[in-house]
Amino acid sequence: MLLREFYRADDKKKVQRIFIGNALSLLFIWGIFYSRRRCFGSCLSGTLTDSKLDKYNLLENEEYVLVFLHIQKTGGSYFGRQLVKSLLMRKPCKCVPGRKRCSCLHKGNNWIFSRFSTGWACGLHADWTELHECIDKKMNRIERKRRKRRPLHPNIRYLYITNIREPVKRYLSEWKHTQRGATWKEATLSCQGKKYRNLIPKCYKGQNWKRASLKEFCSCPYNLANNRQTRMLSNLSLIECYNSSLPVNVQEEIMYNSAKKNLQELAFFALTEYLVESQFLFERTFKTKFLINFVTSNETKADTIELSKGELRLVRLVNKLDVKLYKFAKKLFFKRYNAAKKDYFDEMGFEYQSEKDIINNTALEDILETATDEDIKNIKKNGLSLLKSTNKILKISNKTKITLRALSKKSSLK
Ligand SMILES: *[C@@H]1O[C@H](CO)[C@@H](O)[C@H](O)[C@H]1NC(C)=O
Ligand SMILES: *[C@@H]1O[C@H](CO)[C@@H](O)[C@H](O)[C@H]1NC(C)=O
Ligand SMILES: *[C@@H]1O[C@H](CO)[C@@H](O)[C@H](O)[C@H]1NC(C)=O
Ligand SMILES: *[C@@H]1O[C@H](CO)[C@@H](O)[C@H](O)[C@H]1NC(C)=O
Ligand SMILES: *[C@@H]1O[C@H](CO)[C@@H](O)[C@H](O)[C@H]1NC(C)=O
Repeated sequence: MLLREFYRADDKKKVQRIFIGNALSLLFIWGIFYSRRRCFGSCLSGTLTDSKLDKYNLLENEEYVLVFLHIQKTGGSYFGRQLVKSLLMRKPCKCVPGRKRCSCLHKGNNWIFSRFSTGWACGLHADWTELHECIDKKMNRIERKRRKRRPLHPNIRYLYITNIREPVKRYLSEWKHTQRGATWKEATLSCQGKKYRNLIPKCYKGQNWKRASLKEFCSCPYNLANNRQTRMLSNLSLIECYNSSLPVNVQEEIMYNSAKKNLQELAFFALTEYLVESQFLFERTFKTKFLINFVTSNETKADTIELSKGELRLVRLVNKLDVKLYKFAKKLFFKRYNAAKKDYFDEMGFEYQSEKDIINNTALEDILETATDEDIKNIKKNGLSLLKSTNKILKISNKTKITLRALSKKSSLK
């Protein structure tokens, strides 16, 4: 199939429904995940980047441009809206009610390239390949001036970010979306300057693929939903784009390795299943805050779809690269998250005990139990958002609760 042009400003209701949930179960899952990975640091060394947290001061450095690589059905609309509406920048984006896009400028320069700021300037749901080929030109056009914009230019830097989602859920969500009529057929699928939009065979006849059964959806070899996350994160030039003469298994291997490398090189990525943690990591990475906290859903539409064992096997099979990539992404994410937590504790002058303490939040809980108002004021400077979200999770004393509530009110007034 090809994708669909669906991207109406999705009704707020839907977004809210999808993302209302509680963090408790997350924390629980997260605990299990960790308790199984005692050797976390050492097991992974060599495969993952250093556990030091890379930081980019978005507020201070006006040459930074966040570039949001928005993969379909990963919660990117919610994330993208948060970026333009709730991020605490010196000068917040100017958003006009009723208009989809906001103007996000920092001394006349755009600081974010995304659907809700610059629009789909490099094409609908532009992937890694399209963004890298197109962004310089587009940014010059948008800002009406030429700047040196190399990714590794000492001053001007594109900071790529994205959302990664558990692949079976993402796939089911795309299937359901296709049944509602989505095709994303306007996606240009450019690669090496060539538009593949009309060159890739379609999985359906007519206008859309509303009638696709799951089996049909999985069986169409041209379905761009298959391994979408891997493909959209890889440098497709490496496999001669969409019309590769390389054997499929070679293509797959190249694409997977490229996606893995590119994922590691992103300044940040969120995991859709762990948005609270993602928010914290984002805030520590870019030294800024969200004024409205993220909530993670424990129940999305994809969660309500029941699959037989055979169906599940099939979905995983046609998404085998994404399944592998997600495993990798999750390890990398928690490694970064852990580094961010350590960094936070160090900065606050709290003792960083063992990894385990931090992992299960005991240390944070202790702080909240015993903190004085003065401590809380200090914490607020750097970790208000985290505390606000952990507030829901942790047992905290009444006094602390009241202080936090007062602080939250104050910050939402700003
Ligand atoms: C993608 O791969 C091609 C082929 O190796 C290479 O020439 C190009 O520089 C790569 N793109 C980026 C942005 O690194
Ligand atoms: C794909 O490649 C084949 C052979 O390599 C070529 O004949 C064909 O024109 C190409 N198609 C597209 C759409 O580029
Ligand atoms: C999701 O969270 C709600 C509220 O805590 C709970 O009642 C519900 O059972 C949870 N659903 C699942 C599928 O875990
Ligand atoms: C969290 O860590 C503390 C200290 O290491 C330990 O006593 C406690 O049992 C842990 N809690 C969970 C839920 O693993
Ligand atoms: C905390 O507040 C709740 C109700 O707001 C009250 O029932 C409880 O006794 C208080 N606990 C302490 C330790 O003061």
